[in-house]
Amino acid sequence: MTLDWDRIVAATRQAHAEADAPLCAYLYDLEALAKHAAHVRAGLPQHCEFFYAIKANSDLPLLTALASHVDGFEVSSGGEIAWVRRHFPQVPLIFSSPGKLDSELALALKHDVTVHIESLHELERLGVLARAGNCPASVLLRVNPPLAELATSTLVMGGKPTQFGIAVEHLPACLERLSKEPALVLRGFHFHLLSHQLDAGRHLQLLQAYWRQSKEWCMQYGLSIEHINVGGGIGVNYRQPEQQFDWNQFSQGLATMLMQEEAAADGLKAPRLRFELGRYVSAFCGYYATEVLDIKEAGTRTFAIVHGGTHHFRTPYAQGHSHPFRIVPIDCWQRPYSRPTVSQCRVTIAGQLCTPKDILSSDVPVNALRVGDLLLFPYAGAYAWHISHHDFLRHPHPQHIYLPVANQTYSS
Ligand SMILES: Cc1ncc(COP(=O)(O)O)c(C=O)c1O
Repeated sequence: MTLDWDRIVAATRQAHAEADAPLCAYLYDLEALAKHAAHVRAGLPQHCEFFYAIKANSDLPLLTALASHVDGFEVSSGGEIAWVRRHFPQVPLIFSSPGKLDSELALALKHDVTVHIESLHELERLGVLARAGNCPASVLLRVNPPLAELATSTLVMGGKPTQFGIAVEHLPACLERLSKEPALVLRGFHFHLLSHQLDAGRHLQLLQAYWRQSKEWCMQYGLSIEHINVGGGIGVNYRQPEQQFDWNQFSQGLATMLMQEEAAADGLKAPRLRFELGRYVSAFCGYYATEVLDIKEAGTRTFAIVHGGTHHFRTPYAQGHSHPFRIVPIDCWQRPYSRPTVSQCRVTIAGQLCTPKDILSSDVPVNALRVGDLLLFPYAGAYAWHISHHDFLRHPHPQHIYLPVANQTYSS
């Protein structure tokens, strides 16, 4: 995924020129998003489906840009169901999350949403609601199989005991319950064991394990399923941005793997593989832009304080990395005071919060940096604004600027 820096830098400079306060903005390149989604989709073999997990970024312009490239949206709350249905009455929806409320299950039934069941208790509740409302539902069982050696990354939701999904020892009870529940139709199994997968080969191994495990359960319990949902989890390499997940290698390997597995299907009808990717879809289109407010030296270290911080852009703190950035130099300086400047040194980028944790990047070598220059942090389109604690200290929110496919800029 090549970033269109020229487009973003130009838009950032324009926003800076128009701003009446130090700049602080998110910019989203919707054209790049649509192209990337089309590329992801084109790489998926036949019999695969591509859903976008909107928890990564549910802004309407992004959903609109993605809608024609995906088979549907994955949602994780009643709020997300309502948001999507308000704007996309027809788009297929699938619903995962632990601790679903009865009201959320009822909303899912009302809006024809496929539900990923996380426990026997949830299964029972959905069955009761579906019968009471005379509203049959499609379900997938989210299972957490013991695959700890394959499920390795910096953020693991399964493969070992966690709060997510149904532990395999409880699968028979869930299947038994489903067999007596006329209102619920089992469509398949759902897996989401990790996020931040950067290795295409290892991801293929994980998917192959899902496939084989599902086949084994189908044979063992006499089931016929339509879908295996293989979750999301493909990562973005923030630490070494030049080494991103190799989508082409992955998609070629997936086609080969599916051909081999389908050939060995022992007469069982092959299910469709469903992806519900979040980070890998929307991270690349987003940028956080912020203006340097102050520069100070403290002992051997240099700190640049920017307009904003982790309350806008929590991603580096959440993932524990030093986020890459580019400097956009602003040469014009017409203020009645001097301009702090550093050169040929390492700089730590800090925000405006009253906490030492408010760090976006640490000890990064820079050629030159001045108060009033802008910093542009890429890969900020997923789990960035939406996971940040916006209202801490009641600082103003950043601008949100969407660069549309049709080459016009609008903001909200
Ligand atoms: C059930 C489920 N599916 C999909 C995703 C999307 O994951 P990612 O953004 O890593 O692709 C998540 C994220 O937590 C999830 O919990």
